[in-house]
Amino acid sequence: MKTKIARLLGEEALHSEEGAKVLDEAAEIIRRGGLVAFPTETVYGLGADAVNKKAAKKIYEAKGRPSDNPLIVHIAYISQLAEIAGKISPAMKALSDAFWPGPLTMIVNQREGEPLIPRETTGGLSTVAVRFPSNPIANALIRESGRMIAAPSANTSGRPSPTSGEHVIEDLDGKVDMIIDAGSVDIGLESTIIDLTEDIPVILRPGFITRGELSKVLGEVSVDPAIEGVESSAPPKAPGMRYRHYAPKARLTIVEKKSASSEPVFERIIKEALSFAQSGGKSAIICADENLSHYEGLDGVKVYDIGRFEHDDEIAQNLFSVLRQCDCDGVGRIFSESFDTPRLGGAIMNRLLKAAGHDILEI
Ligand code: TXA
Ligand code: MG
Repeated sequence: MKTKIARLLGEEALHSEEGAKVLDEAAEIIRRGGLVAFPTETVYGLGADAVNKKAAKKIYEAKGRPSDNPLIVHIAYISQLAEIAGKISPAMKALSDAFWPGPLTMIVNQREGEPLIPRETTGGLSTVAVRFPSNPIANALIRESGRMIAAPSANTSGRPSPTSGEHVIEDLDGKVDMIIDAGSVDIGLESTIIDLTEDIPVILRPGFITRGELSKVLGEVSVDPAIEGVESSAPPKAPGMRYRHYAPKARLTIVEKKSASSEPVFERIIKEALSFAQSGGKSAIICADENLSHYEGLDGVKVYDIGRFEHDDEIAQNLFSVLRQCDCDGVGRIFSESFDTPRLGGAIMNRLLKAAGHDILEI
């Protein structure tokens, strides 16, 4: 398949004549059951008409995604949530007032009677994931198409989520009808997912909107034990959180600080990275900007600055692109610091631990 690649860089591009043409064409592709990759504020999404069964199936094919892993339905009007769920509950109202449009996904029950969103989109579940993104291109596409758009992250299944148009092109060129490249996204981690179908709302995937922020609006909020790393026989409630994910090609080990001092961590990372390099491989270190000077002048070791620990939104923004960069640079072994920052640390480490397959060295 020939993929049309359209570049819309900056807000003004969207409102230009060219921008209007691109959106027209993208909306038409969605209406006739095709696939369009588009930017959101979190990561790029791979979109199709959410009520079109054949179109939803195409998403799974293009990504190589297991068919029991449900898609998020993206909307651009609150009324669309009511259409899906049959009503707006007080919790939905409170959350949408506080966080929509934005990086929050709500899991809700479908309306009674004939469900609106087909099983092909929901992975066979009776519940649906709904998100109202804030990115203007995403919004314009949903509105212009006149549809709700089902969209997982626009990566090949298992690879790090795409945070730039280039990443999407790497994974999906030739497999989808159109890619809208709008440069880098704002947040860089996928939306927080909260399940509203339980008595006490449960966080199924941590993200930019934190548990504390959700509790302020909802009162008590719990966290799915499977994502807290607690040994549990129960599988994660978000099917997608079961799969190995976000992984670079190289084996990745996280070196975690268990004592008060950071020095032993730096020393161990350097020792491991040098030893791999000396055996003839290319090794990589991922570190916080503040620690960069500790890793200078190491032969055969590539050092990636992931952003400032003190500004963890930078780390969130860079995480997936650093993992992808390791692949591009042909790295064979990666050692990373841990980034358990106060605000976004939970979400960042959730992704990094998955990418590492929970390979941790405690120092
Ligand atoms: O930020 C985001 O959420 C991005 C952008 C494109 O919006 N999308 C995204 O989609 O991350 P995806 O497919 O990569 O991740 C969706 C997650 C999966 O783990 C899936 O299992 C879970 O949401 N999910 C979807 N529907 C669900 C449901 N009804 N119940 C529980 N989990 C659900
Ligand atoms: Mg994904």
